[in-house]
Amino acid sequence: MKTFDINVNDATCPGVTLESIQELQNEATQALNTVLNGTGAGNDFLGWVNLPSETINSDLIDEITSVANVLRAECEAVVCIGIGGSYLGAKAVIEALKNQFAPTKPELLFAGHNIGEDYLAELMDYLADKRFGIIVISKSGTTTEPAIAFRLLRNLLESKVGREEAAKLTVAITDAKRGALRTLATEEGYASFIIDDNIGGRFSVLSPVGLLPIAVAGFNIRALIQGAADMQTICAKPGNPAELYAMTRNALYRAGKKTEILVNYNPKLHFFAEWWKQLYGESEGKDLKGIFPAAVDNSTDLHSMGQWIQDGERTIFETVISVENQQREVVIPTDEANLDGLNFIAGKRVDHVNKMAELGTRIAHIDGGVPELTLTISELSEYTLGQLIYFFEIGCGISGYMLGVNPFNQPGVEDYKRNMFALLEKPGYEAETKAIKARLN
Ligand code: PA5
Repeated sequence: MKTFDINVNDATCPGVTLESIQELQNEATQALNTVLNGTGAGNDFLGWVNLPSETINSDLIDEITSVANVLRAECEAVVCIGIGGSYLGAKAVIEALKNQFAPTKPELLFAGHNIGEDYLAELMDYLADKRFGIIVISKSGTTTEPAIAFRLLRNLLESKVGREEAAKLTVAITDAKRGALRTLATEEGYASFIIDDNIGGRFSVLSPVGLLPIAVAGFNIRALIQGAADMQTICAKPGNPAELYAMTRNALYRAGKKTEILVNYNPKLHFFAEWWKQLYGESEGKDLKGIFPAAVDNSTDLHSMGQWIQDGERTIFETVISVENQQREVVIPTDEANLDGLNFIAGKRVDHVNKMAELGTRIAHIDGGVPELTLTISELSEYTLGQLIYFFEIGCGISGYMLGVNPFNQPGVEDYKRNMFALLEKPGYEAETKAIKARLN
């Protein structure tokens, strides 16, 4: 990460200035120490803190790489099954790094993150004539969406290549001892990796949960971990940028800015924002508190959400991820007729125009009363993504404690499951079934 700029003043948020943000320094450092010393609520879920510096050592990276290489050598396509924290991190990194119009080799496909019947039917059609493998990821091993997808795709794979061969093409990532997936992995002899008890799903991208699919897609997981490890070193010290991020967003929230919009000007970052939304939404949205995490992809969304952001209710602030350099160069050509009037930018790179759209929008939003934070990275790479991931994770821990919640649990996620199981008449939910049916009648 190259720079972190904060454009917050009385005009964008009355009462919040750089000076008033700095007054939260002690609070932030206390929250950082609560994370690092494991003295706060949810301290049994801090295994992610030392993933880059300790847990993901060179041997484990080699092991992940060697399992990935089997799938890379054997498969045309690999389906990564998982939902929430068991899918978004890998999807975010792969989408940020891959060519958008060419599948990775092998092609990485995702399932188990929805219950779309058409989605699953179309996926199975697509796989019918392909040699494919499966990475199934579920910490609990019992989550409905991935369990349904795995049952279907395992049947398909076994019917194509036989049970024994299917087992060689299947990797499970799950709890060390408990859960249906662990039992199945042991019985069938799948290669497997462990999700440590002390790592919650949304903090698991730097564990085998994210690393295996990213390695299968052909990206450099060692560089990703190095970026995260370097950011860990920076963020272990008081006065670090993750503290500043947490201080700024809490100062703004306390002053009535209830929604944070993560903004990118690079379409490859769409899923990075989806990962970030889960990280902050599931960590902070509890006890009737929490900033609502939203996201836009610009300039695309300037033509849909731009009006609201510029002129709507002033309860928002923006965090922009700015990518300094593109991997490719495209120059706008001259046109003799110039009917589109674009010759004034002929000879300029497309990215120059994008950067002017970015700068112009940032200035317009600041003028329109939107506090604005900008994180600049030099380019999209494994290393910079590793940095950003760790920055947002530690920032989330600090921010959650400053907000006064346990950032590492997710009690609210269970409520829909209880109702769904009651409606599906799952054994063990008889009383809930009766109650919900009475309600519906
Ligand atoms: O962050 C979380 O804990 C959740 O998003 C989980 O990752 C998600 O619900 C999937 O759970 P599991 O890995 O147990 O299938």
